[in-house]
Amino acid sequence: ARQSHIRNFSIVAHIDHGKSTISDRILEATHTVTERDMQNQLLDTMDLERERGITIKMNSVEVNYTAEDGETYIFHLVDTPGHVDFSYEVSRSLAAVDGAILVVDAAQGVEAQTLANVYLAIDNDLEIIPVINKIDLPAADPERVQDEIEEDIGLDASEAVMASAKEGVGIPELLEQIVTKLPAPTGDLEAPLQALIFDSTYDSYKGVILTIRVREGIMKPGDKIRFMNSGAEYEVTEVGIHSPNPIKREYLMAGDIGYVAASIKSIRDARPGDTITNVDNPAPEALPGYQPMTPMVYSGLYPTDNARYNDLREALEKLQLNDASLEFEPETSQALGFGFRTGFLGLLHMDVIQERLEREFDLDLITTAPSVTYHAYTTDGEMVEVSNPADLPDASEIKSIEEPYVLAQIMVPEEYVGTVMELAQGKRGEFETMEYLDKQRVNVKYYIPLSEIIFDFFDKLKSSTRGYASLDYDMDGYRASNLVKVDILLNGDKVDALSFIVHTDFAQSRARVITAKLKEIIPRRNFEVPIQAAIGSKIIARSTVKAYRKDVTSKIHTGDPDRRAKLLDKQKRGKKRMKSVGAVEVPQEAFMAVLNAG
Ligand code: GTP
Repeated sequence: ARQSHIRNFSIVAHIDHGKSTISDRILEATHTVTERDMQNQLLDTMDLERERGITIKMNSVEVNYTAEDGETYIFHLVDTPGHVDFSYEVSRSLAAVDGAILVVDAAQGVEAQTLANVYLAIDNDLEIIPVINKIDLPAADPERVQDEIEEDIGLDASEAVMASAKEGVGIPELLEQIVTKLPAPTGDLEAPLQALIFDSTYDSYKGVILTIRVREGIMKPGDKIRFMNSGAEYEVTEVGIHSPNPIKREYLMAGDIGYVAASIKSIRDARPGDTITNVDNPAPEALPGYQPMTPMVYSGLYPTDNARYNDLREALEKLQLNDASLEFEPETSQALGFGFRTGFLGLLHMDVIQERLEREFDLDLITTAPSVTYHAYTTDGEMVEVSNPADLPDASEIKSIEEPYVLAQIMVPEEYVGTVMELAQGKRGEFETMEYLDKQRVNVKYYIPLSEIIFDFFDKLKSSTRGYASLDYDMDGYRASNLVKVDILLNGDKVDALSFIVHTDFAQSRARVITAKLKEIIPRRNFEVPIQAAIGSKIIARSTVKAYRKDVTSKIHTGDPDRRAKLLDKQKRGKKRMKSVGAVEVPQEAFMAVLNAG
């Protein structure tokens, strides 16, 4: 009987269309949190999420709602991130729910991730409730957006909820539609346990805590459970739900979404996508899991202070407990010492991880420019995966190099199609198709090297279309490209952490931009520092950091001791994110110079 009163759903949307605000309104309207506890975007728990106003990790919460039919319903709301870097998390949460609320901005209309996310929802056979949000905006055009939802997506939008999450409009109607339009979960309470893990966090007392959707059976404390893919076995210590704070329960049953703790020490034992069953009464097979997720970009993380290498390793291990998509392995660099090659879902993810390491673990890091993974085929027929440009075998040993491509979908108003095509072509894009979504909007598809997409493509796309274009992309395999490695030499010494891989056609121009930039970034010394870019032994660009004309430091030494201390202190802090390479000080920005040199 309880099952028929459960509704499990996610909210999906293009970034900034108002998912988190709608979640907050639902929590308020159902008195899940008192007004005093209500902070904006309550589900965005990470500090960084609040500051940046984006959802990075999904969260789930249970809500009680008394409907117009007089019955009380249990809603499990699973929040999802909107940024393209985190679309993998969207698909994970959608595999755990039965319905989706599709939020579309009444002024912006349907955008690239609206389509991408709604297709994920359709793939998961979810019932979908369209919500047109921000109808309070002067630029809102709900009728047009209603047409777009019908024409572009093919969903019936005649009963779309017209909402302003900001002003609380439409929320009561949305709550009713959740009850009447979304299906109750199914699943047999008597059947052997099958529960899907779709997220995990770490608690220093309870160990790894898993967020799960129970598909069949019941789970309670004391049960011996097995993870069907990893084979690991544990005893359940606690089950419960989030509302939004954790509340213990006696059991979780088929249809529930909740958490389970079992003193799990290693995240490898219990990865998202794995199925939990009961050791004494096991299910015959695991639930369909998730596509293994592969990082899109890699970069080297090095502590500026070599002595903190172990602290960095521990910090990465801790972050990994909350972020199964983070990958790292030790690497050494002649220039930077001991560090880790770290894999990320995209540049935003990289930024977030780096910032968390610095803030939460008080580390000062040098991050090398992100790189995709290349496939280098050697003359003896081997394939080498290269995610650190410095590791590319010698040109004489390479037969061919392949790089990852994506199929990019760019949604844009018709008048910008020319601009978009020009941009995509300049990034080595290969035209696939172009579809009219409706009278004004076009979906332009291009095959583009991933390396070109991750750098500045999105920023350029936004600025050249005055913000009207939106982008989504999927991996599309590897293709052979004419690529070379460019090395950077400072003072005659090759700095391995500055090497980059680039298409032959762009090698010279990019090398010129980078050597010119490095000249601005690298501090002057009392001797001249030549900066050179080379392919093999051939120098293709150069610049020089001029020497100091006179010794300014000696003057300070004779000055007021107070001022001198302040200056030294300032220098020390400025130095934090620098690395001495030979006799040259290289600041953090230098390692990123390659990023915007396109
Ligand atoms: P991500 O979590 O980053 O994916 O974004 P989101 O889709 O959750 O959007 P969020 O709820 O953070 O809202 C984005 C912005 O739109 C915020 O500044 C909100 O205050 C604003 N916003 C949300 N709903 C409304 C609305 O109904 N009207 C207006 N005018 N602004 C709104």
